[in-house]
Amino acid sequence: MLTRRTLAALAGATALALSLAAPAMAQDKIVIKFSHVVAPDTPKGKGAAKFEELAEAYTNGAVDVEVYPNSQLYKDKEELEALQLGAVQMLAPSLAKFGPLGVQDFEVFDLPFIFPSYDALRKVTQGEVGKALLAKLEDKGIAGLAYWDNGFKIMSANSPLHVPDDFLGLKMRIQSSKVLEAEMNALGAVPQVMAFSEVYQALQTGVVDGTENPPSNMYTQKMHEVQKHATLSGHGYLGYAVIVNKQFWDGLPEDVRAGLDKAMAEATDYANSIAKEENDKALAAMQAAGTTEFHELTDEERATWVAALEPVHEEMAGRIGAETIAAVKAAVAE
Ligand code: LMR
Repeated sequence: MLTRRTLAALAGATALALSLAAPAMAQDKIVIKFSHVVAPDTPKGKGAAKFEELAEAYTNGAVDVEVYPNSQLYKDKEELEALQLGAVQMLAPSLAKFGPLGVQDFEVFDLPFIFPSYDALRKVTQGEVGKALLAKLEDKGIAGLAYWDNGFKIMSANSPLHVPDDFLGLKMRIQSSKVLEAEMNALGAVPQVMAFSEVYQALQTGVVDGTENPPSNMYTQKMHEVQKHATLSGHGYLGYAVIVNKQFWDGLPEDVRAGLDKAMAEATDYANSIAKEENDKALAAMQAAGTTEFHELTDEERATWVAALEPVHEEMAGRIGAETIAAVKAAVAE
């Protein structure tokens, strides 16, 4: 017979069992660590936050997305290694950072003046050429899910940058892309590869003289505080591939992956819809801050940039692959 004391003990045991079960259930969630190097208040940062929200909703809480911004977990190079090792599951590196992985085809996106607009770029990223490029990551244990925009880059330094001669001898920080190295060499500058997290300090201490980035990155890292001049050159594009560890992705239950695919598609539309506005706002904020003088290229000045940088396309054909360059140019011209 169950005495009152036995009942009380049973109730206690049940409560204990439930309280032990709760954290175990939390641990049973599928955790996606999404590491990135920029501020939360950028197109990529906001895209990652949107993915987190939608992924958790569309999988009914089966997935827990943890976003780590600002190189909190890993810097540029380490994050790719961490993804391959499975220490993180999702990243969105700039397309200029896939070379060290052995997939230098993505450096086609770095060619100077190759995309006249976001629309032209989308013909590549949302078409067959973009899909074929993502497929090249599979051999590396990586699945490419989407392209996210940031924007068109501006050049900055502590001296005015109106024509290529102004770059002579300047130490310019670049991402790891060989195309960006060739670009800076073509301008007469001295390129220096450096992790994004180190750029502000390098500019502040004079380790480098200048850099290139879209306004949103420049503003959210406060680079405008340590750069007296910037030129609105729009000479190149910076965007991202959202990538996952392929083994992890393929191993997900089908219904979970379907929810995540839906979340990624919507987060991609969102990120791409805010990118231009985020960059416009960042530029306006830097102009208002008044620490940097912004220069618009005249038509004559622009022509000198185009003439100096055009040879980079030919020079890099061997590295990127002439076929990839031709396919991108054909898509842009459609
Ligand atoms: C950079 O290193 O300049 C950028 O790739 C940072 C980023 O992820 O936007």
